[in-house]
Amino acid sequence: MKITVVGAGAVGASCAEYIAIKDFASEVVILDIKEGYAEGKAMDLMQCASLNGFDTKITGSTNDYSKTANSHVAVITSGIPRKPGMTREELIGINAGIVKTVSENLVKHSPEVIIIVVSNPMDTMTFLAHKTLDLPKNRIIGMGGALDSARFKYRLAEALGCPASDVSGMVIGGHSDTGMLPLTRLATRNSVRVTEFMSEERLNEVKEATKVGGATLTKLLGTSAWYAPGAAVSAIVQAIACDQKKMFPCSTLLEGEYGLNDICIGVPVIIGKNGIEEIVEIDLNEEEKAKLQESAAGVSKTNGLLN
Ligand code: LAC
Repeated sequence: MKITVVGAGAVGASCAEYIAIKDFASEVVILDIKEGYAEGKAMDLMQCASLNGFDTKITGSTNDYSKTANSHVAVITSGIPRKPGMTREELIGINAGIVKTVSENLVKHSPEVIIIVVSNPMDTMTFLAHKTLDLPKNRIIGMGGALDSARFKYRLAEALGCPASDVSGMVIGGHSDTGMLPLTRLATRNSVRVTEFMSEERLNEVKEATKVGGATLTKLLGTSAWYAPGAAVSAIVQAIACDQKKMFPCSTLLEGEYGLNDICIGVPVIIGKNGIEEIVEIDLNEEEKAKLQESAAGVSKTNGLLN
């Protein structure tokens, strides 16, 4: 299985590293527009092979898309990350043009590719990839919810004083500070609802900390995060490569599901060898439904900036 990662920045490199360490892909090609940068990252990562015990072949290329030919999966991380104080939506001006060009080039060389969009504003960039490429909807996936859910589980585990592996939870909605909808009502600690273990007030703190998870890291790091984004993407790539049928919240084109149309936003989906194999419609209560509609209105507003 050949995987392409476009963008050799921190998220792209971290994603390539996790894919290699998990050793499920035969080949990872990293691409970047900065001369020699992808080649350097690939060489550095390949020098970990004997130490970390993987056989995945990693190569880098300065923007030569012929090297990506016949990729099964391609990850788009290109574009600029946000700086402290910025919203993801503010990146649209620069990133939209980049994501459009990158996605066209990818499909030219890999007509059957499944694309995972990471660049921000992620839901709008996923929507743009759909509009640009007109591929079957299962083949374009926005990764935000997988990352936001991991951050939710981190915050829940912190509040519960337990390992994150004991916790189950999902964040749906838009991948933005205001649009995320952590499903606190449904989160569990080993199948017991977390509401049994903590006060509403504490759970509310968890919810709010989750929503600004990316912004908190951007403030601490001076740029946006990369380890958890890279891990979230690699988990989705693995679910495709290994046909795992795993459920993640991902941004997907909705056509009536959840009462929404012509929008990409995070909802639970099943990921397997065909990409998004099913959209899972869970029963939301009235408050959650209203929050999802509100979140969708925010994403639609950002989509409107594309024209
Ligand atoms: C974040 C970026 C990847 O949330 O959107 O860290």
